[in-house]
Amino acid sequence: MILAIETSCDDTCAAVVEPDGTVRSNVVASQGLLHDRYGGVVPEIASRRHLELIDAVVDDALERGESSLDEAELVAVTRGPGLIGALLVGVSAAKALAAARGLPLAPVDHLAGHVLASTLRLDGVAPIEPPFLCLVASGGHTFLARVDEPPEYRVLGRTLDDAAGEAFDKGARLLGLGYPGGPALDRLARDGDAGAFEFPRALPGDGLDFSYSGVKTALLYRVRDLGEAEADRRRADLAAAYQRAIVEPLVIRLRDAIESEGLRRVALGGGVAANSELRRRAAELADTHGAELWIPPLELCTDNAAMIAAVARYGEPIAYPGYLALDATARVA
Ligand code: KG4
Ligand code: ZN
Repeated sequence: MILAIETSCDDTCAAVVEPDGTVRSNVVASQGLLHDRYGGVVPEIASRRHLELIDAVVDDALERGESSLDEAELVAVTRGPGLIGALLVGVSAAKALAAARGLPLAPVDHLAGHVLASTLRLDGVAPIEPPFLCLVASGGHTFLARVDEPPEYRVLGRTLDDAAGEAFDKGARLLGLGYPGGPALDRLARDGDAGAFEFPRALPGDGLDFSYSGVKTALLYRVRDLGEAEADRRRADLAAAYQRAIVEPLVIRLRDAIESEGLRRVALGGGVAANSELRRRAAELADTHGAELWIPPLELCTDNAAMIAAVARYGEPIAYPGYLALDATARVA
């Protein structure tokens, strides 16, 4: 079995996964509330909290997976991208476990984890089989990938600036909702009229890229123009229109990719896959294109360690966990 650890941002995660991708446990200790009052993740606070939590989270994953270190064949860990101090805690723990137990170590790319999350088996849901397309939209990343032979994937298009989740979070802040704002904005939008306001669509060029900095600025100006009282009165309409402006480009690019790549299996990944409008529109798109859509359970969409194991089971682990190059190209919202 694979013991996996993920600490790239603000969640302390560990999982026990079988080599065929069956998830036996997937533990996430969220730090959300800790960073709430700052309106975003504070790297130093995140690192310290990982340090406090990591041992207990690993123990919990082993216990819930009805497993023990004796059963572990491989230790997998996120090597980045992420916050350097946060990554270091997970990597140090993983290296210590591997060294103490004489186990191989697999350093894993966090983004490959999001891409391959739907290849896992959880609660009896059948995993997706390559080749497939995957739209990853999270707080730090937004891209479209094609998977032929895991763990390899090819990025077909990506955001040129902000991530979709970041646009949700920043929009939510402008509308006076808490952090992370995505879920709150999603809820508010249900009572609003998406046609009430017009926002620019994030569709730069004619490839498969995205751009989310413009729509955020447009919301800022719209709220300012309306004035505080009026903006407050029309918050639900603003949320609905803004949400549509974020979701529509995701669905349009997904459609373009289905058509240009000729693939009929499609997966969503990343925290924004929780968005009700994205789920609805992606399901409609799959229907009209005769495609099959995988939306993994939410616990596999948001940051988690099972998805790190999903990648590790395909890769070549390193026998001795000596020097390990980290990827600290973090995007902090
Ligand atoms: O994948 P994730 O947990 O963390 C990153 O790796 O970034 O994604 C978190 C992001 C946040 O930006 C959050 O606002 C967004 O996913 N999100 C949502 C919803 N639930 C979470 N965005 C829109 N609608 C939601 N229901
Ligand atoms: Zn992530």
